Amino acid sequence: MNVKSEEEIALMREPCAIVRDCLKFVGDRIRPGMTTGEVDAIVYEFIKASGAEPSCLGYCGYPASACVSVNEVVVHGIPGDRVIREGDIVSVDLCAYKNGFHGDAARTFLIGEVSEEKKKLVRVTEECFFRGIEGLKAGTALYDIGYSVQKHAESNGFSVIRAYTGHGIGREMHEDPSVPNYGKRGTGLRLPAGAVICIEPMIAAGTFRVNVLPDGWTAVTSDGKPAAHYENTVVIREDGVEILTL
Ligand code: MF3
Ligand code: CO
Repeated sequence: MNVKSEEEIALMREPCAIVRDCLKFVGDRIRPGMTTGEVDAIVYEFIKASGAEPSCLGYCGYPASACVSVNEVVVHGIPGDRVIREGDIVSVDLCAYKNGFHGDAARTFLIGEVSEEKKKLVRVTEECFFRGIEGLKAGTALYDIGYSVQKHAESNGFSVIRAYTGHGIGREMHEDPSVPNYGKRGTGLRLPAGAVICIEPMIAAGTFRVNVLPDGWTAVTSDGKPAAHYENTVVIREDGVEILTL
């Protein structure tokens, strides 16, 4: 796998900070009545105004700058005419490209008053990320991350999406290794210092099975129950991790 130098990591700080700030900007504005397409327009304008490029736009033919995934949409929701309503949970996943590098992160927003189950799902998904990085440092086995994520999700009665994973990131949006949110402790490659990876638990209230809609992207839970997503770009250090998008 691809290990970054300190110079390269320094160059990654900017796209990562833009992603972080853009998600904050969206979180401050997202509200009932808005369409997912309007959320995407905010993301496009923000990233362009920051002097960066939206990495997702045109990636493998993806038609937007952000993935905007409402309720039963797990990931890769193509923004459009869907109206966001009170009680929805909306995950926004975006990447920015600047200085020759990508940054990538996602948050799930609560729209107004949401059910206790959705609130718990969003909280636990975020906690899964932090469980995943607990004790993570150079030399940690890759699947220790997934093991911790899965344990926390399942002990809360939720399931881990298997069809999508985290990934390395750098000059390409998706680099080796793939970073699953499940697994057997102590297995997989040992992560070296300087590895930069996206850790992104995708957690469902019901089944982990997904269907992809005819648009070729939008992934929905096959039981129609909600799912949440939380992601950051993380550097593996000798003594821990550094989160670039927080
Ligand atoms: N941020 C997403 C990821 O982690 C990228 C979505 S795929 C795209 O992989 F086509 F929308 F870019
Ligand atoms: Co990602």
